[in-house]
Amino acid sequence: MLTIWVTGGAGFIGSHLVRHLVRQKPDCRIITIDALTYAGHLANIADVLHASNHVFLKTNIADASALREVWDSYPPDWIFHLAAESHVDRSILSPLDFVYTNVVGSVNLLEIARQRWKGHSDVLFYQVSTDEVYGSLGETGFFTESTPYNPRSPYSASKAAADHFVRAYGHTYGIPYIISNCGNNYGPYQFPEKLIPLTITHLIERKPIPVYGEGKNVRDWIYVEDHVRAILLLAERGKRGHTYLIGARNTRPNIEVVAYLCDLYDEITNTQNSRSLITYVKDRPGHDFRYAIEPSSHLFALGWAPKVSFEEGLRETLLWYLSHPEWIEAVRSEEYTQYYIQQYKERLG
Ligand code: NAD
Ligand code: TYD
Repeated sequence: MLTIWVTGGAGFIGSHLVRHLVRQKPDCRIITIDALTYAGHLANIADVLHASNHVFLKTNIADASALREVWDSYPPDWIFHLAAESHVDRSILSPLDFVYTNVVGSVNLLEIARQRWKGHSDVLFYQVSTDEVYGSLGETGFFTESTPYNPRSPYSASKAAADHFVRAYGHTYGIPYIISNCGNNYGPYQFPEKLIPLTITHLIERKPIPVYGEGKNVRDWIYVEDHVRAILLLAERGKRGHTYLIGARNTRPNIEVVAYLCDLYDEITNTQNSRSLITYVKDRPGHDFRYAIEPSSHLFALGWAPKVSFEEGLRETLLWYLSHPEWIEAVRSEEYTQYYIQQYKERLG
């Protein structure tokens, strides 16, 4: 029986991955490892939490001895590593939190894997990473697997460092790994600090929607389920020691995304003039201008293609948030209120 760890499995993307693994692999033991920070919630995996092939362990990956104990009880064959501090704005406020989890936590995992996986070749360390490690593009061009790393925020620097450590451990100690770098995800269960769920929750609450700068920055969006299908396929059939870029060829300026959501909200809820909530605010320091991904050809060769159009995905996502007010209420803690004040008070007055 294969034992599969998902670190960060109670977060946004991790929860979608855990749900698939628990349901698709009844013969495997799925171990969710998550510290349950402000961004991690058992509510995200409530439907599979008590499944017979699933174990949840509240564990901080920055704590090496705690990880060793978990390993002794549930030695993994595969590790999907998603646990991370993931929000760029927070990384600008508190960079060290990103070093502890994204760098030290990742190396803790690699250290224990190197010691315990010696001589094993049928194991896998799957590093879930971001396109932000490649830096910022101008008006044209795409990131490819050979684009040099050029991280420019504390978040992307910490993810780049972790990616480098994964490759270094693969090269030096022979750990079989895959790294995939993906663009901006959206969908159900995304914590309401990120652009799309922030916009949706503010639409519901009729609060100003903060758009940084002139709203012209471009992101490459993918529906979370399309990302998770790519991860699962690559784990099964991807080449070990390789890097894959995952994207849906869906680049949009922020203002277009926000305005579209406003109109969609008006249509679905029979409201008027939601665009009047859009408020241009002071820009993010060091704000990367544009991300755009040329997805790996090998991924398409394996039969993957994004299934959900941006329009369908945004509708699904908006409907999900509209029908889960209790989830929004449950995940916003006092910590979030404090963060929100720090991040937006000056900007929104
Ligand atoms: P998220 O913030 O929603 O979830 C992160 C999870 O990690 C949370 O459940 C949190 O509790 C957990 N966590 C944080 N610190 C931890 C620690 N020290 N020990 C154990 N668990 C800890 O993030 P997400 O958006 O789901 O992203 C998941 C992964 O995918 C991250 O590695 C991120 O860098 C990467 N990624 C995200 C995106 C995106 O658009 N969201 C895009 C590409 C890659
Ligand atoms: P975000 O969701 O934080 O993801 P990332 O910074 O990792 O790309 O932001 C997406 C884009 O939206 C980014 O260009 C910053 C912008 N943005 C706003 O304009 N207003 C906001 O309140 C937030 C959170 C983001």
